[in-house]
Amino acid sequence: MSNLEAVYLNGNYSSKHQTSLSILDRGFLFGDGVYELIPIYNKHIFYVENHLHRLKSSLELINIDPSIVDDDLFIKIINSLIDRNDYINHYIYIHISRGVDKTRNHIYSKECEPTILIMGENYEPFDKNTIELGKKAIIEEDYRWLKSNIKSTSLLANVLIKNKAYANDAYEALLLRDEYLTEGSASNVFIIDNGVIKTPRLSNKLLPGITRKFLTDLIMQNNLDFEECDIHKDLLLSADEIFCSSSTNPVVPITQLDNNIISDKAGPISMELYEHAQQFIKDIYK
Ligand code: PDD
Repeated sequence: MSNLEAVYLNGNYSSKHQTSLSILDRGFLFGDGVYELIPIYNKHIFYVENHLHRLKSSLELINIDPSIVDDDLFIKIINSLIDRNDYINHYIYIHISRGVDKTRNHIYSKECEPTILIMGENYEPFDKNTIELGKKAIIEEDYRWLKSNIKSTSLLANVLIKNKAYANDAYEALLLRDEYLTEGSASNVFIIDNGVIKTPRLSNKLLPGITRKFLTDLIMQNNLDFEECDIHKDLLLSADEIFCSSSTNPVVPITQLDNNIISDKAGPISMELYEHAQQFIKDIYK
């Protein structure tokens, strides 16, 4: 993308590499904000109502008025970025911080006007061969805070954990809190246990992933066996298949967990869901 790539900041469009923010922005000083990452498929915004709904719910949970997100206006801005930047298959990143404050103070002033940034980000999804081979994951203690249902920009723990996975040649770290699976450092996690697709139930300990919702919609449409339940470490370790889901890669099969090889390639149910997801995206965004 050229240096002229346009981004939206607080009502104006400007070039990505020349747009700057105040050092007193609470997003910069405290990670005091929330975000969304939305896939664009063939110029269409994926599950946009769900993404904007989660954004408003995250805002509400950090005491920022969610009515600053007007769905029609946000969709108009995203479409404008798609047109201006010729995005075809891409991602839109929305970042809302509490805004620029008068001084660095943990206590925020009531007059703060939220900072709204909307911009494109480019990630290369895995190709089918990579998906078929599967990826390694490590297991890590979930030492994050207990409000992981908020899509917060305070991502230090996730960043440290994901980098530990990367340093161990792994795609992801699967997180255990008190011996139970929560999610990955940047994804939700599903397992297959005796033909049943299982994923941890929603709570304050994990993000309500939009891809998780998309996949459960597909699971229902295809009458696959499914259960939202507690997943103990022992069940995770004995799973027939494991896969991670996120907006950047809807289904990523895990074929190695720490030093244990689960299988030499992605399992059949993970691949079936991968194919359903690809087909759905192709069909509705022709
Ligand atoms: N992360 N859990 C965590 C901790 C995540 O960071 C993500 C996504 C998910 C999956 O959510 P969704 O299906 O809505 O993308 C679950 C994004 C991709 C990111 O931070 O870039």
